[in-house]
Amino acid sequence: MTMRKVNVVILLLLAVAFLIIVQRNLLNLSDILHKENPDAGMILPFETELSPELSLELVRKGEEIPVLITAAEERLGAVVAAMNSVYQNSKANVVFTIVTLNDTVDYLNMWLSKTRLKNVKYKIVIFKPELLNGKISKDPQILEAAKPLTFARFYLPAYIPEAEKAIYLDDDIIVQGDIQELYETNLKPGHAAAFSDDCDSASAKGFIRGAGNQNNYIGFLDFRKEAIKKLGMRANTCSFNPGVIVANLTEWRNQNITRQLEDWMELNTQEDLYSKTLAESITTPPLLIVFYKRHSMIDPMWHVRHLGTTGAGNRYSSQFVKAAKLLHWNGHYKPWGRTSSFSDMWDKWFIPDPTGKFNPVRKQAEE
Ligand SMILES: *[C@@H]1O[C@H](CO)[C@@H](O)[C@H](O)[C@H]1NC(C)=O
Ligand SMILES: *[C@@H]1O[C@H](CO)[C@@H](O)[C@H](O)[C@H]1NC(C)=O
Ligand SMILES: *[C@@H]1O[C@H](CO)[C@@H](O)[C@H](O)[C@H]1NC(C)=O
Ligand SMILES: *[C@@H]1O[C@H](CO)[C@@H](O)[C@H](O)[C@H]1NC(C)=O
Repeated sequence: MTMRKVNVVILLLLAVAFLIIVQRNLLNLSDILHKENPDAGMILPFETELSPELSLELVRKGEEIPVLITAAEERLGAVVAAMNSVYQNSKANVVFTIVTLNDTVDYLNMWLSKTRLKNVKYKIVIFKPELLNGKISKDPQILEAAKPLTFARFYLPAYIPEAEKAIYLDDDIIVQGDIQELYETNLKPGHAAAFSDDCDSASAKGFIRGAGNQNNYIGFLDFRKEAIKKLGMRANTCSFNPGVIVANLTEWRNQNITRQLEDWMELNTQEDLYSKTLAESITTPPLLIVFYKRHSMIDPMWHVRHLGTTGAGNRYSSQFVKAAKLLHWNGHYKPWGRTSSFSDMWDKWFIPDPTGKFNPVRKQAEE
């Protein structure tokens, strides 16, 4: 090699080293910018960054549609599939707020940034389990079953402080319609939220009578208890499923909905107000009380559920499932598990875990 060539090589190496250093420092800078947060460390946004050429065509403009979803470490595949389905089926400016536990943040960021979800707008919010101190039973068995993140929906305005209207989605859902349509659900004046009722014809299709499945208030609340009796609610009132919520956060704040929900949770730890045969999530009963006759309706096709209960596959036609705007696998049989109805509808949106930790069970079994 001539001296000249060696010089060129050295110069190139120096240039590369320089670029690496600049890159690192830029990353650190953005780290700092993003971690700065006054609110007791609760909110930790990680807006995804776009390279300039990509951003021109990919940044979505227009009214933001805030969507809150939770990310539980052991089932991150669920939230990834759900987000992917929302994003791909809409051109709207969707901004996700993902509520998760501190230990899950790095894993979640990795999954989102290393896959085709990297252009999706999202921020991560840390859920502090201490929030629930004194509000759920200390019985370790109940505590274990409680899954603290399921209570994140009680705190919607705290997690999305800038929005007036927002959507909450469970992680075991797939959206097949344009989320804009759900967002445009009309909320009546004075209503803080809209839910899908358990008695409409679409949800009744997936319903097993008897088998611990309930569609009215008495399935969730103990009407023999004084605190419940005093409310004068009708026990046979149709219940609703809070796996999909469209909320008016201004009303939510004005009516102190979060505080009301917390009060009922606290009272329940003392007086055991929920039904003994409660089959669904323990987040439902306080919502049923607080929103009794004070909620708007979500179009039934925007919450087709019970796909995770036994035999749902026999009750829904594949045509009906295809036409649904949103599918919800509530129940024991999740679409990433060994046996589940219509798991092919979920597979379409699943994005493999770049770390290889999460694998749909049935996929493994096939290999
Ligand atoms: C930038 O961050 C990396 C690791 O995240 C660290 O090793 C490095 O020292 C940081 N550099 C500066 C200038 O803070
Ligand atoms: C989150 O975890 C990191 C270590 O992984 C720790 O330094 C930090 O204090 C934790 N933050 C909260 C809010 O618990
Ligand atoms: C939300 O509620 C507030 C207060 O009642 C009302 O002024 C506002 O129009 C509502 N917004 C939406 C999007 O429904
Ligand atoms: C909500 O809470 C605030 C402050 O605690 C109180 O002033 C207000 O009256 C409450 N509103 C309702 C509707 O309970």
